[in-house]
Amino acid sequence: MRWVTRFATLSLSLAAAGCLGGYQPGSPGTHMDPPPVDNPPPSDPTANPSGALTARQLFDQNVLTILTSCTSCHAGTGTAGGPKFLGVTGDAYYASLTGDPRFVNNVPEQSYLITHIHAPNEGPDLNMAQDAKIIAWITQENVERALPPPPSPANVAVQELAKFGNCMTLADFTAAGMNDLQNQNTNGGPCTSCHATGAYVYLSNTPTNNFNRLKESPWLMKFALGTINTDGTFKDVEAANRFLDRGKEPGHPQYTLNTTRATALTTFFTSTYTKYKAGNCPTTPPPSP
Ligand code: HEC
Ligand code: HEC
Repeated sequence: MRWVTRFATLSLSLAAAGCLGGYQPGSPGTHMDPPPVDNPPPSDPTANPSGALTARQLFDQNVLTILTSCTSCHAGTGTAGGPKFLGVTGDAYYASLTGDPRFVNNVPEQSYLITHIHAPNEGPDLNMAQDAKIIAWITQENVERALPPPPSPANVAVQELAKFGNCMTLADFTAAGMNDLQNQNTNGGPCTSCHATGAYVYLSNTPTNNFNRLKESPWLMKFALGTINTDGTFKDVEAANRFLDRGKEPGHPQYTLNTTRATALTTFFTSTYTKYKAGNCPTTPPPSP
């Protein structure tokens, strides 16, 4: 297929350059030149001497078509529809995916394109035939260069929790009633008497400051956690319940959150989780390694 294409291109360029001038096939009395041969071929930087397709060729021929069912939600700018891991236009997809070890790593079966499962009706997952094409492409990427391992589930859980934190908004926090949490009393004094400077949890008299800390680890981890399945894969972000439970456990001033405050924790978790699952939250640059 490629050879035929190149041959046609070569013939055309020869014709354009006038190299075939005067020669008419079969015209009487004309010496029959041998047809031009494709040897040597025009230099092709992606050509693979073994004759097998290069990783880039496998991507262009077999993977791009699969991605057309993903681009409506995963390509472009902004946040609507889903995380934009493909980049803006078709030219960028290859660089975006190969530059992200979640997608292209040294265990092709663990490409996030394959392992990610959408919630029902959220978006299509790949079928086995498509998985095989993704694996063939990434396997060839590994032949051509050294790739990093897939991010460990623990790292994925940390990254997912950070995404969850980015989905928190002050409006949701306030609407849920979280701005009142620090006013809970205990048998050892109010929360703010021990936690106003952020030791273990951040509970000051200024709700906006409390919100700003709660968005980030380690404070965030008292509110939500990234969890891992028994098979080692990332599971989900789940409520940590530390604010609810710490006052009922020994070794800490005792308190039982009133119903409004307990509900505030659940409401705020749910509104944040809904945004996290929809994938349309602001992103912050990843921390430098
Ligand atoms: C109709 C919209 C839609 C389409 C189409 C769609 N997805 Fe998604 N996808 C989402 C949403 C929303 C999320 C974020 C929530 C989640 O992680 O499940 C997501 C998340 C993902 C993620 C996780 C990204 C991350 O940064 O965590 C991957 C990987 C993914 N999709 C792959 C695909 C692939 C591959 C296709 C095409 C075969 C596809 N999606 C098609 C909506 C879509
Ligand atoms: C007299 C001081 C004091 C007061 C008052 C106090 N705490 Fe604490 N809290 C601590 C100390 C010390 C720790 C760290 C050790 C521990 O977990 O017991 C802590 C830890 C915590 C933790 C983290 C527990 C974990 O599992 O990591 C939470 C959540 C917490 N406090 C919530 C509260 C809330 C909510 C209030 C108010 C209703 C409150 N605390 C009042 C001293 C206090």
